[in-house]
Amino acid sequence: MRIAVVGSGTMGHGIAEVASISGMEVKLIDISWDILNRAKQRMEESLKRLYDRGTIKESPEQVMRRIEMSTSYEVAKEVDFAIEAVPEILDLKRKVFEQLDKITPRDAVLATNTSSIPISDIGEITSRKERVIGMHFFNPPPLMKLVEVIPSKYTTEEVTNFTVDLAKKMGKVPVRLKVEVPGFVSNRIFLRLLQEACREVESGEATVEEVDSAARNKLKLPMGIFELADYVGLDVVVDLWKVIVGRGAKDVSCSSYNKKVESKELGVKAGKGFYSYQAPGKYSKVPLPQDSRVPPERVISLAVNEGAWLMENGIVNAEEIDTVMKLGFNFPKGLMEIADELGIDSIVSQLKDIYSKGYDAYMPNPLLLKMVSSNQLGKSTGRGFYVHNT
Ligand code: CAA
Repeated sequence: MRIAVVGSGTMGHGIAEVASISGMEVKLIDISWDILNRAKQRMEESLKRLYDRGTIKESPEQVMRRIEMSTSYEVAKEVDFAIEAVPEILDLKRKVFEQLDKITPRDAVLATNTSSIPISDIGEITSRKERVIGMHFFNPPPLMKLVEVIPSKYTTEEVTNFTVDLAKKMGKVPVRLKVEVPGFVSNRIFLRLLQEACREVESGEATVEEVDSAARNKLKLPMGIFELADYVGLDVVVDLWKVIVGRGAKDVSCSSYNKKVESKELGVKAGKGFYSYQAPGKYSKVPLPQDSRVPPERVISLAVNEGAWLMENGIVNAEEIDTVMKLGFNFPKGLMEIADELGIDSIVSQLKDIYSKGYDAYMPNPLLLKMVSSNQLGKSTGRGFYVHNT
């Protein structure tokens, strides 16, 4: 299998690394050798960590030998599959797809790692929109097991199945969306966590550290919400936010992320975001207070509401949402499982409280209201999103 990866930044270099680990021949394309050399260094560092831990058997040198880097699309002439991981700018992505459409064999599948842009909008620029698909990896790709597979309204079943198989060959667990929605499952839910975190801070309910302490210490998430935003990149956060609310999701007023981007504090990659890091690109766990005023059900309330929306619209079921959160974000339990534990009634009462303060996006989803009125409150009543043995 020969695969081209266009864009060698945070996601692109990780995807190239994962593809090569699974034995594929990789062509990694970017616009300059400075960027490519930095990607090479990051892949080597990551491979060394995986090798030292025994996760991979081949040496980093052997894995790197299957990766050819280039500033020209020519190397993609004979690939079976190409995936794009350039910044979240539709015009830029369309330019990349025009190039790939020209250079790759007619039957090659073209994928995008976009985190939120509708696949149909990207595919339409090519002469093979039925062979264009979304294949969304998570940061860091070598560690995160999840891949969202998003067929556009044009993608054929054969191409979707091919991409699902490819994800499995790369050692990943694919979750396939039935219908494409902006932000897919992962980032619609991530956006809601980001929005509630921001609302809590900007309304004076809590500090950044208190929100993150509730996420890490009460919900047992691997990172706080602002910490994760720093890790993902605040420019990426702002871009995915714009795409999702720009295409109809209700917004929550918030300026914190934009302000950070305006002052070039982009998070881990810049060495500074909501927190400070030792050096650009060097993440280490941020220190947080043990206690926090923030109730855990408040932190996830809007995200659970979004989960209910995804279920109501037939896009995914509760188990699939939970797979996304466990394997894409390393949640120790699924979001809907956590909601069942905390109680659907407490989630709804948080939503109602925030809604009453004038935040429209918090209007409780009818599915949640129905669950409360039929006593499906989660673990406490034996039935919520899941059936529980009491
Ligand atoms: N390659 C290889 N190994 C790596 C690595 C990489 N890129 N990054 C970390 N590791 C290894 C470390 O070497 C370390 O190994 P040992 O246990 O052998 O020492 C191990 O992973 C743990 O790393 P750390 O000690 O540095 O820190 P940690 O325990 O906090 O784990 C983490 C780091 C795995 C990233 C964890 O914090 C986590 O799971 N965070 C959540 C990440 C997440 O949610 N990602 C999704 C973001 S959203 C997204 O990507 C989608 C989008 O479209 C925006």
